[in-house]
Amino acid sequence: MNGDLTAIRAILFDLYGTLLDVRSVEAACAGVAADAAAFTQLWRAKQLEYTFLRTLMGRYVDFWQVTRDALEYSAERFGVALDPARREALMAAWLRLASFPDAPEALAALDGAGRTLGVLSNGSPPMLDAALAHSGLRAHFAHVLSADAVRVYKPHSAVYQLGCDALGLLPHQVLFVSSNGFDVAGAAHFGFAVCWANRAGVPADRLDQIPRLQIRSLGELVAALRGPL
Ligand code: 2OP
Repeated sequence: MNGDLTAIRAILFDLYGTLLDVRSVEAACAGVAADAAAFTQLWRAKQLEYTFLRTLMGRYVDFWQVTRDALEYSAERFGVALDPARREALMAAWLRLASFPDAPEALAALDGAGRTLGVLSNGSPPMLDAALAHSGLRAHFAHVLSADAVRVYKPHSAVYQLGCDALGLLPHQVLFVSSNGFDVAGAAHFGFAVCWANRAGVPADRLDQIPRLQIRSLGELVAALRGPL
């Protein structure tokens, strides 16, 4: 499912789940919850649910606080004692997420081909700085943009508008890459050309928004964009 990408002047990437593997938080939870996978899945689900609800209610707090609130909910739900030391150790896992194996090579190829690259994420600026530094990916990006600048979360259009404002481009000139279905729908609704990195091979969300491109790994994106700038 490839579309015309000739108008693309820059590429923006979602971070968590797209470039960085949220499942590496599960490793930090291994000694905490009997079912670390279920615990981590609830933590991530509540983290995103809180971003949606806080945006709808107009009650913004940053992604670090949302992530901590979701952790505390999950710990209580699973009957996990959460003393301050354990809580901070688990939170720190979000600053040390592993990059997906395909990300370094794909970003180096796109960057090396003269493409303007950026990150556009719900993450707070300190979270993004720490995670990108730890992953070694920071140098590829001309822009690192946080929803914190507009105090609402994806899929609110103000977040995607940050990308157009930073790049000085119109929505259709930007290719937005995300693995998260709600983010794919929100970005397409805003007007970006969207590449869905369907890493898990899940069904498309029924949100009447169709991505321009669907890939399983970032290497396919490099191939799709190969050619004159
Ligand atoms: C991000 O904004 C959606 O959590 C994802 O990086």
